[in-house]
Amino acid sequence: MFRLEEARVEDAPRLHALVERYAAQNVMLPRTVESIVQTLPDWVVAVAEAPAPAVRQVVGGACLTVLAPELAEVRSLVVDPERQGEGIGRCLVERIIDMARARGYQQLCALTLVPKFFLSMGFRPVEVADISPKVWVDCQHCPKYECCDEYALVMDLVPNPVLPNYRRTDLPLPMKSPNWVPLDLVS
Ligand SMILES: CC(C)(COP(=O)(O)OP(=O)(O)OC[C@H]1O[C@@H](n2cnc3c(N)ncnc32)[C@H](O)[C@@H]1OP(=O)(O)O)[C@@H](O)C(=O)NCCC(=O)NCCS
Repeated sequence: MFRLEEARVEDAPRLHALVERYAAQNVMLPRTVESIVQTLPDWVVAVAEAPAPAVRQVVGGACLTVLAPELAEVRSLVVDPERQGEGIGRCLVERIIDMARARGYQQLCALTLVPKFFLSMGFRPVEVADISPKVWVDCQHCPKYECCDEYALVMDLVPNPVLPNYRRTDLPLPMKSPNWVPLDLVS
């Protein structure tokens, strides 16, 4: 059992520890405790509910990040390895979708190694070029820039989003890893 809440300052070290754990496995980009504290209003956290823990126990979190006036990203989505498969990740992303809609974004994106998780939530695969504000903001600093194994996915938040063409020729896109294969959307 868990409940979703707004993140508190005291949650930052725990969120940082979860992100660090997955960053060490190259599953996501690392972030500092300071960057978490500075973006607290953009986070949602899952807090363990039963059996009633003596102290507040954050078991997951996710952050809504603006990439462009129309485009936001689900960033730093983490679920405690001991609590995966309980629906926490799904609930966190659903809350991030609600936040993104409420803030007026037209599209939500993710760059991820778990595309099937996002497909199951209604996201669809796109080319990285279609979310290139992510490349301008983050990918350039990513250690996987020349060997990217991640998948770009988006979800439209309004019926007919009107988006600028994000494709730019002056910035190269990340190079795909030789191990990268297109998503099999059939099986
Ligand atoms: C990916 C992650 C957030 C999923 O969280 P979770 O709480 O285990 O997921 P849920 O229990 O809510 O599962 C929701 C659905 O996604 C599916 N799913 C979950 N993890 C999956 C995975 N790794 N691959 C494929 N499908 C997955 C589940 O089967 C479930 O499908 P269903 O609703 O049809 O039954 C979690 O595994 C995690 O923290 N992974 C490490 C960090 C990471 O990769 N974050 C994403 C960065 S973009």
